[in-house]
Amino acid sequence: MANKPIYVTQPSLPPLEEYTELLQSVWESGILTHNGPMVQRLEKELCSKLQVGNFTAVTNGTVAIQMAIKALELQGEIITTPFSWIATIGAIKWEGCTPVFCDIDADTLNMDPGKIEALITDKTVAIMPVHVFGNPCDVEAIEAIAKRHGLKVIYDAAHAIGSTYKNKSLLEHGDISATSLHGTKLLNTAEGGGCITTNQELHEKLKRIRFFGHDEKKDIVEDGFNGKMTEVHAALGLANLKYYEEVLKDRKEKYFYYKKELVENTALTFQAIKHGETNYSYFPVIFENEEKLLEAENALNDINIYPRRYFYPSLNTCEHIVDYVKMPVSEDISKRILCLPLYWKLNYSDMDRVIGTIFEQGY
Ligand SMILES: Cc1ncc(COP(=O)(O)O)c(C=O)c1O
Repeated sequence: MANKPIYVTQPSLPPLEEYTELLQSVWESGILTHNGPMVQRLEKELCSKLQVGNFTAVTNGTVAIQMAIKALELQGEIITTPFSWIATIGAIKWEGCTPVFCDIDADTLNMDPGKIEALITDKTVAIMPVHVFGNPCDVEAIEAIAKRHGLKVIYDAAHAIGSTYKNKSLLEHGDISATSLHGTKLLNTAEGGGCITTNQELHEKLKRIRFFGHDEKKDIVEDGFNGKMTEVHAALGLANLKYYEEVLKDRKEKYFYYKKELVENTALTFQAIKHGETNYSYFPVIFENEEKLLEAENALNDINIYPRRYFYPSLNTCEHIVDYVKMPVSEDISKRILCLPLYWKLNYSDMDRVIGTIFEQGY
């Protein structure tokens, strides 16, 4: 019998009965949304688990970025990275701002802080780096530049739940961090996201924006919209949260399993983790050239294994959405990078098949 397909990721799911038990109390409460008890409980437990002061749970990570831009009342140019998911620039554009690309560091794959200042104009209002694959950005360098030029910093922390900097959550960096709880993420609510800030006033404002701009008396006091997470999604997050440490530990072990084999036996290169600790939620490998990547991808597809070209293409090349500006490092890396399957219930025997196929190709 053919092997079952192995995809780049699979959502972490709790035992169904643990989820349905939580749903039982949703049914009993009769509350499905509007910052109900499950959302409040999820936010509280997330704060304690991640060691952050607040967490505003929202519909998805894209909305979290939009809400961060809205809360900071930004209008103008936002310096961001071309090596990201389309949502990063989509959210900037949907908020009426203009993305300005800053190329990445070839080792960390994050925005290169050394290239930011040359891009600052009198229209620049913020910097929006991405902690790519959970790898912490050089937050100190970025925040020093922002301070020097009076700019806001929003981190697209979609991948970064569980990543740390100096042993503290990475999510408290920047004016606001926007994270994702999408099904593919380390912790998921199926669809979901959140905003984190150390600024209490901004936190209150984010809560109002999420709820049509209402204050506690239901007066409309902000230019808000509907960013509310539902009780059904929050319940899934709570059920998954019980397994958070186990998932994190498992991903880390698998990450190093791949890494040991591939570092010792291939000429592939890997993302450098230089500024803190990643959450090990992706395993990207970088080939010598695109041709070799395609050979490896085809060989894996032939045995029903589906890694993912991620991030590809480099966003500055999406000319139907942005004006093209050359970004040599991002364009080069995006053609040569492949994320290998990595998820909680992935079997080591399937990882061995991935590794073996890469060895067979002679990289
Ligand atoms: C870097 C990055 N930013 C933003 C998002 C958007 O998150 P969501 O899918 O929760 O809207 C994603 C989604 O995967 C992402 O990878």
